[in-house]
Amino acid sequence: MKEHRYADRVRSVEMSGIRKLFEAGGPDAINLGIGQPDFDTPDHIKMAAIAAIREGRTGYTPNAGIPELREAICEKFARENDLAYRPDQILVTAGGSEALHLVMEALVDPGDRVLFTDPGFVSYAALATFAGGKPEGVPLDTTLHIDVERAKELMEGARLFVLNTPSNPTGAVESEESIRALVEYGNDRGVTIVSDEVYEHFVYEKKHVSAARFGEDVITVNAASKTYAMTGWRVGYLAAPEDYIPECLKVHQYAQACATSISQYAAVAAYTGDQSAVARMREEYRARRDLLYDGLVGLGFDFPRPEGAFYAFVPMGRTLIEKAIEAGVVIVPGGAFGTRAPDYARFSYATSRENLSRAVARIGTLME
Ligand SMILES: Cc1ncc(COP(=O)(O)O)c(C=O)c1O
Repeated sequence: MKEHRYADRVRSVEMSGIRKLFEAGGPDAINLGIGQPDFDTPDHIKMAAIAAIREGRTGYTPNAGIPELREAICEKFARENDLAYRPDQILVTAGGSEALHLVMEALVDPGDRVLFTDPGFVSYAALATFAGGKPEGVPLDTTLHIDVERAKELMEGARLFVLNTPSNPTGAVESEESIRALVEYGNDRGVTIVSDEVYEHFVYEKKHVSAARFGEDVITVNAASKTYAMTGWRVGYLAAPEDYIPECLKVHQYAQACATSISQYAAVAAYTGDQSAVARMREEYRARRDLLYDGLVGLGFDFPRPEGAFYAFVPMGRTLIEKAIEAGVVIVPGGAFGTRAPDYARFSYATSRENLSRAVARIGTLME
């Protein structure tokens, strides 16, 4: 086959190790690899989308998003995060992924250092590289939380620090003290904080605190995807100091035009409607977290109880990880999330309790 030419910046980035898992496993496989809710989108949200289709609200929308959604997102920030944003500080995107992409494209110059935790969410390094930046991992401490002192050292001269709490892949939730310290220290030194809060509602004992409460130069990235079980609808947003919005909008305007109109109307229903489904999902995730954690600790694994998101990050050693995957327990090796945790595996508990029990039992048989 003829080999075509393509750009170095694309060549230098690997395919996501996780996407492959969408197809993984035989008939007997138990898939704990995928980071998406196994719940259905609540009905009132679907009905709003159906109404938008019926009423012909299917054309392009304003590039930055429909006014009623930008307004609803501001109300959400006031209600849930104790933050006062105006609609001109909100840019609606095709999921949190696009919001992260826009921020990198609009803020990162060639050679700029972009920090995020290692292990961390797979997109940060790739998007920083596409933008010409230099991705750099910040280590975690033994409890899987950010090593704040080390992070401060690395922040000298950096352009961005992407903070992700609750964290994918570790399930750690950072404390208010750590978040405040990172934001204040970074902002004092010209480091913009990008706060990825897509798992904010899935926190079990602690409280989620938004980074934007502690500094002016903070861009919040969030999405309807995880909160409302809407991953395929592709609606997210960024909230930022107002001068960032037109710059991010340029990239969005030319690359995307707007988020899907129908999904935006559905998202208005999500943010303004009944929130009880979110609480129900959180309680179910909590029960699954306990089931999985207690099961794994019962097998002898030693790690902190995950505090948020729907992931457990488990130190099991590379051999057992490989054996588990071969035996049909689909988990993601830590190497997919950076360089520092190759002996860990990420378990997603966005799957049934039955699947989690079967997975623990199957791993148990591999250890006999
Ligand atoms: C930490 C984190 N940020 C952002 C995203 C992107 O979410 P979306 O589906 O809204 O693009 C994900 C999805 O897995 C994630 O885990």
